[in-house]
Amino acid sequence: MDIYILGIESSCDDTSAAVLKNNKVLANVIANQSVHEKYGGVVPELASRAHQQNIIPVVDTALSNANIHKNQLDAIAFTNGPGLLGSLLVGTTFSKTFSLALDIPMIQVNHLQAHILAHFIDDDNKSFPSFPFLCLTVSGGHTQIVLVKEHLEYEIIGSTIDDASGEAFDKAAKTLGLPYPGGPMIQKYAGKGNPNAFTFTYPNIPKYDYSFSGLKTSFLYLIRDQLKLDKNFIKENICDLAASIQKAIVEILLIKLVKAAKDFEINEVAVAGGVSANMLLRDRLIETATQEKWSLYIPKFEYCTDNAAMIGVTGYYKFVNKQFSNLDIVPYTRIV
Ligand code: KG4
Ligand code: ZN
Repeated sequence: MDIYILGIESSCDDTSAAVLKNNKVLANVIANQSVHEKYGGVVPELASRAHQQNIIPVVDTALSNANIHKNQLDAIAFTNGPGLLGSLLVGTTFSKTFSLALDIPMIQVNHLQAHILAHFIDDDNKSFPSFPFLCLTVSGGHTQIVLVKEHLEYEIIGSTIDDASGEAFDKAAKTLGLPYPGGPMIQKYAGKGNPNAFTFTYPNIPKYDYSFSGLKTSFLYLIRDQLKLDKNFIKENICDLAASIQKAIVEILLIKLVKAAKDFEINEVAVAGGVSANMLLRDRLIETATQEKWSLYIPKFEYCTDNAAMIGVTGYYKFVNKQFSNLDIVPYTRIV
């Protein structure tokens, strides 16, 4: 029997709805919120208001693009956390209402698990990672190495003790006067810069954990000190600065991933989350996979950054396992 799922994602600043037939995506619609650009980061109150405006048109468009009537849906899956409370409340409340009105089950989805399960979207018969595999999950809010044992069973073996890698990109961009989200901007300027122009010390953190706050501070101090000598320092060096900070973030990510793969003797390796859209990270992962003899899984660009297709596919696996939620479910902002 085919299962039709509506997926809803509203954890941060993208309102997204997707329609899936089993683990195949029939439609995936995303409304980005440009309102945050000028603030150098997401403004929570503006995000929840924009979600409220976007959610119904986004769902309508997803259903019509998929050519599916809402009465054909078997369940609604929605991001329950982690994320911004006001943003999550919009998706959660919409999903409760929708589930009640249509009398279909609702399925709560962990956003980070969904980034990982995006690898199981059935797309042109692509191959799926085999279990167990390691997934480097790199987003605006999280940086983790996850040992994935089954679709719905995983263990976080390393995480950031301070900033996330996406945040490191965003904060570096802000320091350079570039708009939010910073990752794509840094990548753009880095393309014309020398990655060895400026060097930074890499963190020395035990095990598989990450830290990016030291890097952020040394980047900030370098710029502060140089601006005292030359007020045009950023303007004259923006490409080299972007290339150098991008290289540092990517190399820091790779060091721990290689260590984890060696220690756990796992050569099935995946990457997920917004930062996995970064071209240098993708290229360096491909090189590393050849050296380390990994089978590497990199998501399509549209499934790297936040999207509801990944929520829908997670909903599908939870549906098969009969993991449904009750109406008293409340969103959570942090990993619990
Ligand atoms: O997964 P995501 O869309 O949202 C969260 O769950 O946080 O990730 C957003 C993060 C932002 O920090 C953004 O700057 C970063 O992903 N990002 C990138 C690139 N595209 C998005 N970072 C580096 N290079 C990119 N091309
Ligand atoms: Zn995300």
